Parts: sequence; C-alpha cells; structure tokens
Amino acid sequence: MPLVWNKDLEIGIPEIDMQHRRIFTWMNALLEQMREGKGKYEVARFLGHLGRYTEEHFATEERCMRRYGYANIALHMQLHDDFRAVLDHLQARLKKEGASTSLALETQKVMHEWWRSHITEKDTVLAGFLREKIAEEQKKSGLSLPQLPVTSGQAP
Ligand SMILES: [Fe+2]
Ligand SMILES: [Fe+2]
Repeated sequence: MPLVWNKDLEIGIPEIDMQHRRIFTWMNALLEQMREGKGKYEVARFLGHLGRYTEEHFATEERCMRRYGYANIALHMQLHDDFRAVLDHLQARLKKEGASTSLALETQKVMHEWWRSHITEKDTVLAGFLREKIAEEQKKSGLSLPQLPVTSGQAP
C-alpha cells in the first residue's frame, strides 16, 4: 500500500507536521527498497533511525502537552509507550533472527498502520487543543503573526 502523504495527516502544528513527514519519508524509503528486493538490507538502518527520531518527536509533543496543560497527557504518553513496545519487539526480532524480508514486511506494515492511526486519531485531537491555546496566547499578547509552540530540535 503506498504511503501517500495527504491533508488528513496534516495536523496544523508546523514543527510536528514536519516531523511526521520525515517519518513518512523514511517509511516510503523502506517500502521503495522492499520493492527493489533490498528491504532486508535496509530494515536494521530504518529501525535504528526511527528509534532515535521517534524519541525526539515524542519529546516535542510531550513538551507541547506540558506547556499548555493538556488534560489527556497521561493517555497520550501511554500511547507513545505502546509504540516503544512495538519498536522493541521489532528490534528484538532483528537481534534474534537477523534481517530478513519478512521482518522488513512486518516492520513496514506495522509502522504504517501505527503512524497513520496515531496521527489521524490522536495527534489531530492534540493539535486542535494546541491551536486553541496558541491562539489564546497570541490574543493575550496582542501578536497576530503565527508562532511555533516549541523550539526546533535537531534531526539525526
Ligand atoms: Fe506524532
Ligand atoms: Fe503523539
């Protein structure tokens, strides 16, 4: 299934959208490698990159949730922990069995499903809350220009 980036995946918080797009770019790269029969050779690199970058991405969202007092922070953080468990399972499989086409397939499928549903069902709800808070903040401060809620982190 193609991992098409579309408007449904845009949540309207520029820094977070940029991070989500980057994750999709990597998932697409893995899919492309699989189509060329090279998924087996790319899956370890993909899992390593994603593991590191995911921490940065989750930290961005968690910083936003704390800053604006998001009521569902515990649940949202639990969902991020669930993802860590999925990633740990794939990394453990890689360590135990080595890279394989079947691991690449499972990785691509699981990652695609998790990110698509988390973004469209959970991050969009968070983004709605953040947009309201940011608008309130701007109104209070008299600013009319859009502001990013957090500072940018460095991508790996
Ligand atoms: Fe996210
Ligand atoms: Fe999230």
